[in-house]
Parts: sequence; C-alpha cells; structure tokens
Amino acid sequence: MVHCFRACLPLFAILILASNLSYTRASMKGGHKIKSATFLSPKFVLGPGSVENRFYRNVDFPKGHIGIKSFNAEVIDDTGNPVPLHETYLHHWLVSRYYQRLDVVETNHEQKFKESDRISARNSGICQKGILNQYFGLGSETRKTATHIPDPYAIEIGNPAEIPVGYEERWLLNVHAIDTRGAEDRLGCTECRCDLYNITVSEWGHPLRPDYKGGLLCCYDHTQCKVKQGFQGTRRSLYLRYTVEWVEWDSDIIPVKIFIFDVTDTGKRLNGSTGFGPENGCQVEYEIKSCSSTDTAVNGCVDVKRTNLTMTTTGYLIYGVAHQHTGGIGSTLYGKDGRVICASLPTYGEGKEAGNEAGYIVGMSTCYPEPGSIQITAGEKLVLESNYSRDHQNHTGVMGLFYILVADRTPNPTSLLQAPIHMHVNTKGSTYAVAIIALFGMAIAVAVSVHSRLKKGKEEGYQPMLA
Ligand SMILES: *[C@@H]1O[C@H](CO)[C@@H](O)[C@H](O)[C@H]1NC(C)=O
Ligand SMILES: *[C@@H]1O[C@H](CO)[C@@H](O)[C@H](O)[C@H]1NC(C)=O
Ligand SMILES: *[C@@H]1O[C@H](CO)[C@@H](O)[C@H](O)[C@H]1NC(C)=O
Ligand SMILES: *[C@@H]1O[C@H](CO)[C@@H](O)[C@H](O)[C@H]1NC(C)=O
Ligand SMILES: *[C@@H]1O[C@H](CO)[C@@H](O)[C@H](O)[C@H]1NC(C)=O
Repeated sequence: MVHCFRACLPLFAILILASNLSYTRASMKGGHKIKSATFLSPKFVLGPGSVENRFYRNVDFPKGHIGIKSFNAEVIDDTGNPVPLHETYLHHWLVSRYYQRLDVVETNHEQKFKESDRISARNSGICQKGILNQYFGLGSETRKTATHIPDPYAIEIGNPAEIPVGYEERWLLNVHAIDTRGAEDRLGCTECRCDLYNITVSEWGHPLRPDYKGGLLCCYDHTQCKVKQGFQGTRRSLYLRYTVEWVEWDSDIIPVKIFIFDVTDTGKRLNGSTGFGPENGCQVEYEIKSCSSTDTAVNGCVDVKRTNLTMTTTGYLIYGVAHQHTGGIGSTLYGKDGRVICASLPTYGEGKEAGNEAGYIVGMSTCYPEPGSIQITAGEKLVLESNYSRDHQNHTGVMGLFYILVADRTPNPTSLLQAPIHMHVNTKGSTYAVAIIALFGMAIAVAVSVHSRLKKGKEEGYQPMLA
C-alpha cells in the first residue's frame, strides 16, 4: 500500500492552495488576516471490527511564527464524504508539537515518538510527562464542538526564539479509530472491552491486571473487535481531514496557554517517570459500574468523580471544554471557593447521519467567558468533576478530561476601544474543489469539499483538546 501522504503531495498542494484561496479573508480590523488550510492525514484502511491507532510524524501544518485560531477535524472516506460514528468510531485524534533535530532524517512517518532526536514541546500541563501532551485533540464530539479562539487571543507557535538551535518545530498526529460495522456489541467495541477484543496481554507484551475490563490497553493498533458471524463488509480507505485557521503573529495578539486536566489525576508524580499507572498521576481512563437498586435511591444513579488539582499559573479563562465518552452527562471545573470556572455538557446525536449519530456524543458545549471575568491564580486549588450516568450499563475506558485556554492578560482599555472587529463574510454553505488524480496507475478520486466555516456562532463551531 502506498502512503498517499507522500505520493499525493502534489494533490495536497493543490488542495491547500484551493482552500487557502477560498478561506483567506480579512477578519481583524488591525490587518490580521485569518488564513485557513485543509489537510488530509495519511490514509488508513479499516474493515469490520478493525482498529487503527497510529502516530504520524511531521504531518502537514501551517509554518512560521503564527497564532492558531481554530483546529477542526473529522473522518472522511476516499470520496471526501464524512463517515458516521456508527461505522467508524473516532475514539480520538490528537495533534502534538515537538522539535526535531535537523541533522537526523525522520525516516518512518509513523514511528512512535521515543527517540532522543526529538524534544516534546508539550502544553502547559499538568499531567506527568508523556501523558496528555497534545495541543489539539477531540473524539466523537469533533464535528460539533467549537474550537475557535476569540480575538485578540491565539495559540502561539513557531516562535523562533523558543525553538532550540538545530531543531525544527513539527507536528505529530495520532488517530485512533474503530470500525464497528457488523459489531456484535457496538458500544463494547467503542469502549474497548477486552473480552470483545480477546486481549489479555498489552501491546508491549505485559499481562493485563485481571480486573482491567477495558480501555486503551485492549484496543491498540491492529486489534480486532468481535463481529457478528457471517457479517461481510469491505475494507475501506479513510483519512482524518483537518482544517487549521491562523493569523501571522503580531505583538497585539495575546498568547494563550493550554492546560489539560484529568479527573483521574491523583496528584502523584514519580520523578522522571512517564506513562500511565495509578501510582503516577493521570490515568486518563476509568470505569463506571452500573447502579444497583440500593444506590439509585442515594444519588440518582449518577457516577460523580472529582479530583483536586493545583493550578500552576495565574491568568484569565478564554476558552474551556470537557471530553467525555458515551454515558457522560457533563463536567464542571470549579475554583477554590466553589465558583464555576466552566461547565461543559455533551450533546447526543439522534439520527443516522454524520454529526448526529444516535447514542453518540456528537458535541460538547464550550465556555467563552467575557475575557477578564474569570481569573485563576497560581497555586489555586481547583476541583474537576465529571458525571456519568450509571443507568443499566457498565462502561469501560471512559474519560473525564478538561481542556482550558488561559491568557495572562486582557487587552488594555485603550486598545480595547479600537478592538479588532470581525467582519463576518457570509459564505455559508459554499463548497469548493474536487481534485482528481491518477497515481501509479491507480486512479484515486479524492473529492474534497471544503466548506467554508466562517464564524457562524459559537454553538456551530468545532473543537480542541482531549486524550
Ligand atoms: C483468543 O486469543 C487466544 C490467544 O491469545 C487464542 O488462543 C484464541 O483462539 C482467541 N479466541 C478467539 C475467539 O479468537
Ligand atoms: C523527586 O525528586 C526530588 C528532587 O530531586 C526529591 O526531593 C523527591 O524526594 C523525589 N521524590 C520521589 C518520590 O522520589
Ligand atoms: C479534595 O479536597 C477536599 C478539601 O480539601 C477534600 O475534602 C477532598 O477529600 C479532596 N478530594 C480528593 C479526591 O482528594
Ligand atoms: C454532577 O453531579 C453533581 C452531584 O449530583 C451535581 O452537583 C453537579 O451539578 C453535576 N455536574 C454536572 C456538570 O452535571
Ligand atoms: C456490570 O458488571 C458487573 C461485574 O463487574 C456485572 O455483575 C453486571 O451484571 C454488569 N451490569 C450490566 C448492566 O451489564
């Protein structure tokens, strides 16, 4: 199989060009143009029950000293059509930043990142090293979770002063997708239940704890979930299509820091140690036990999980969103005095089409407080709370993450008077670009329709953050 990523570069160049042309627009009065580009991940191929969890290094990403304004992604097939979650469940996608030494060649596009020629350039915390490092990431909620960052804020990347000499800033993409066509137990496959995958030993050959019923350790790359006897389904080619919006960096843009909190965080940090484990802070996943008639009476059959966290810097909340899995009913981040910093609630789909799949979390609500109105201080004790329904159902591998963006200042009052004003160009619904290429004798038709996503309001935006 040819990696379209490399082989199709000319195609992507065309697409990027097309999308840049169609997207670039004046959007800040002060002269910051919001640029946008749409990229495709390398191709991955899934058949009924199969799993892909790969790490692609040095993926396409906007270059230069810029401020990221939004990051949206979804799974499409090779005709450019969005694939619904009941066919391909998007467990998560993550985009992480790293610095690559320039005197070593990055040979394999999809190696996991472990080597010493790379330095992780992670977010601002607060989990142990190697866990929840990403800049951007979401799961099933990706299509209906707002991700845009309001002016004059942005995520600063590509600052030459921060990149170590001899290194280049690059981006790693992880896509974890599970094909549940024909699955015997669709929810069980999405929750990575070990019995359905017939897994008792981890990807690295370690026996799993006997009480480990499900989660990431049981649905790693190339595992296979149980499919109904005799079910026939074709293997098909899929891509993660991602769209990044950015502005050129400028001194009047205020940078935001990214924090990712985890409700399983025990606060412990083993020195220099990376990775999962109850003794090492963030475990990322947990389990929900269905309620019995006795505890129903006490707390309404809701699992409420809380953890205490300590904020490391002082700043103002600019954006917040939680990440939960099926069964989730909302999550709240509280300040030390019990004030609500941000509450994020899931939207469940009700139909069949991509973006509205019944029973799946198709969006998470987001917080866009008036900048300056919500301050968090260094050393402040926060409480993260994640609620799940325990009705009639056990859940494995659920998550309770919270992604926030924090700025250390607000625009000063003078510049506020001439604050950037968005000129809303209404090109809603316009669709661009169908590109067709023939390659190595294989005709691959990639129809990529790029929908202009000019600001249509917060509820309708997209995503950042996650696992
Ligand atoms: C499950 O895995 C074991 C070995 O790990 C294998 O012997 C057995 O045949 C598998 N069962 C099924 C149903 O695939
Ligand atoms: C971690 O390292 C610090 C400083 O090197 C030391 O004070 C502390 O005791 C260590 N903690 C553990 C759990 O080893
Ligand atoms: C969080 O802190 C509160 C107050 O200090 C304490 O009562 C509670 O037990 C702590 N919770 C956890 C999960 O550590
Ligand atoms: C979670 O449950 C607790 C306890 O019932 C409740 O106080 C809180 O409001 C709930 N939070 C969310 C976001 O649903
Ligand atoms: C949940 O799991 C327990 C065992 O851990 C089992 O006894 C129970 O029947 C399960 N409940 C449901 C609704 O599947």
